[in-house]
Amino acid sequence: MDQWKPRDFSLPSNKFHEHGGNVPKIEREYNFSGIIDFSASINPLGMPPKSQTALLEAVSGLSCYPDPECLELREAQANYHKVSPEQILVANGSIELIYLIPRLLTPRRALIFAPGFSEFENAVRLAGTGIILFHLAEERQFSFSLDELLPKLDGVELMFWCQPHNPTGYLLPSQDLSEILEVCRQRRIYLVVDEAFLEFVPRDIGQSLAARTGEFPHLIILRSMTKFYALAGLRLGYVIACPSIIDGLRTLQPPWSVNSLAQAAGLAALASPDYAEQTREIIAKEREYLTQALNSTGQLLVYPGAANFLLIKILAPQLSSTKLQKRLIYKGFLIRDCANFRNLGSRFFRIAIRSRPENQGLVAAIRESLSA
Ligand SMILES: Cc1ncc(COP(=O)(O)O)c(C=O)c1O
Repeated sequence: MDQWKPRDFSLPSNKFHEHGGNVPKIEREYNFSGIIDFSASINPLGMPPKSQTALLEAVSGLSCYPDPECLELREAQANYHKVSPEQILVANGSIELIYLIPRLLTPRRALIFAPGFSEFENAVRLAGTGIILFHLAEERQFSFSLDELLPKLDGVELMFWCQPHNPTGYLLPSQDLSEILEVCRQRRIYLVVDEAFLEFVPRDIGQSLAARTGEFPHLIILRSMTKFYALAGLRLGYVIACPSIIDGLRTLQPPWSVNSLAQAAGLAALASPDYAEQTREIIAKEREYLTQALNSTGQLLVYPGAANFLLIKILAPQLSSTKLQKRLIYKGFLIRDCANFRNLGSRFFRIAIRSRPENQGLVAAIRESLSA
């Protein structure tokens, strides 16, 4: 009998696609449990207590469909950012939106910074968009000037910037970001600013651009609630843009993408200002502690980031990031090996900023691993 065989649906794989945070895989591979995850950058305080209560209360309503419009949550988000609810679309993590945006805008070319979050590249590639890479220079601590950027913008119709940048932690000065916004307006380039880690940055140096979406219809702001509010397993993110972009994205999004537990937890999280303030204080203090402790080894260089993670270069010539990651796993710590980031390579790793006892544990384990 003639056997029907589906054709080969595999797409070219992307070696930059692997992420941190895959603890179950590592624990299985190494036959190890109780690993402390420094590879995904999540708030060390855990979920806000109000979100935990809201989650428990929401369980009894799980037999019903969630609100497909996330009305209450959007109103709270709109109030938080001083925009209108029509300018917001909620999603199952901001990653869903990263994939929908290029599908909606169908740009011919997109500018991507390298190193950077690999999903921007993956999402534009899948939408059939050409990619222009902008290499951030290590010698200048991954900063860049507008003069360097301008010649790269020819033919570009979409640009992603992550503020502060992942994996470098670099915070683009607000004046520079405003200038880029203006240049993008003049050149008709959609500018996506991913603010996934911006809540961790002290308020006086890191302001959201969300409120400017009313004035700049080519500006698209991405917000993740999974990192700052420690809801990574639940999934929650949103986009702020002009109503016509929001309408377009909603048309592409599957219905009921955001479950009712996530909506309840997100609503309660936004009503937790003390938790937010405490988080920023802890992160600032622990960032300083980790930077000082790791730089003092003399074998590591910590880049001065503004986020809740740190990018670190190994100076010792005989040690690669992959080898260091392996040694640390055996000591119970998972770091993000940055060998698969474009424009970084096997001397770089990234760590989340966690609680003092956990950070002390990691520093001790790194010290031992450097001298092994
Ligand atoms: C820069 C950046 N944007 C977006 C995301 C996706 O976050 P979410 O959990 O909201 O989907 C990540 C996840 O690591 C990220 O690093």
